[in-house]
Amino acid sequence: MTNNEHDWGNYWQGRNANNQTSEEALVGVGIENDAVLTNFWQGHFTGLETSCEVLDMACGAGSVLKHAKKLGMVNLTGVDISKDAISTLEKNILGVRGIVSPVNQIPLKDNTFDIAVSQFGFEYAGDINNICETAREMARLIKKDGRIVTLCHIKGGGIDEEVSEHILSVQQIEDTHFIVAAKQLFQAAFAVEQDATEINKSTYQHATQKLSRPVEMLSAWIKDNQNKASEIVGLARHLHAGTIDMFNRRRAFDLTDIIGWLEGMSAEMQAYKGRMLSMKRAALSEAEANKILDAFNAAGLTVEKLDKLFLQDDDKPVAWILQAQGYGK
Ligand SMILES: C[S@@+](CC[C@H](N)C(=O)[O-])C[C@H]1O[C@@H](n2cnc3c(N)ncnc32)[C@H](O)[C@@H]1O
Repeated sequence: MTNNEHDWGNYWQGRNANNQTSEEALVGVGIENDAVLTNFWQGHFTGLETSCEVLDMACGAGSVLKHAKKLGMVNLTGVDISKDAISTLEKNILGVRGIVSPVNQIPLKDNTFDIAVSQFGFEYAGDINNICETAREMARLIKKDGRIVTLCHIKGGGIDEEVSEHILSVQQIEDTHFIVAAKQLFQAAFAVEQDATEINKSTYQHATQKLSRPVEMLSAWIKDNQNKASEIVGLARHLHAGTIDMFNRRRAFDLTDIIGWLEGMSAEMQAYKGRMLSMKRAALSEAEANKILDAFNAAGLTVEKLDKLFLQDDDKPVAWILQAQGYGK
């Protein structure tokens, strides 16, 4: 299993377990419902027959296919490596055909689709060779006069920069060592409350002192970042407030449940960091984006010049636009 598969598998599993059916994968970088993206996809689907066969590569929960559905298109297929993503997709978009598969080897026949799309998706296939292999797969799957439209992560673009900030944030929270110190305090508090020996009292006192610096650091980090509406700020707040609340009401809990909660918070942060790192890995340089266009071209498609997509008021581009058309390829 590649890192990308692992990180996204964790993400979708978590969302599915929480029954967040309409959750989309760009939560965390805050653009899932952006008007520019909506207009972009609506523009590409408008004018196509409603009976057109549409394929979305690395579709997640269907943030692109939902636009096709809104325009009345009925033959929608989404492919994603994560079975939980596909199960969320099928709950979100009734009648969609969901396929659990890596994007570079899709178990479908040649010449099937009128349009193949991907939004921050097929570039997760792996290294540039895997991505070009995926480009050939898309070319194989579209009809002779089919079309490919994709938006891909751009190295140094708006999302890439934000993702770097989020990775740094997780690192800063980890550097507080809050979770380790909190676990030690809870263990010491339960021990002293069960058996108030001198040694247990002294361990408890020591654990209290050891947590004071991490608490200070985490509180200061939350204060410094209070105006940011990012997922990691929410996680940090939840960790801070939840720990204090549990400490005050600790007699209502088992120690194992409290430790389990803290470990769960740690796992959630690791999963978030993994997802951000996989977004970073997926970001394409201009040379890589052109290599993908070359792969479309070599597969007999006519490619459009590489272009960039900007969100409203942003000076940094958010995506590469890669487009190719089959004229009887
Ligand atoms: C950033 S999300 C984008 C999802 C969706 N296209 C959207 O715009 O909301 C990336 C998606 O790629 C999927 N993915 C990662 N590696 C993959 C692979 N090798 N093959 C297929 N899907 C993959 C993940 O499960 C995830 O749903």
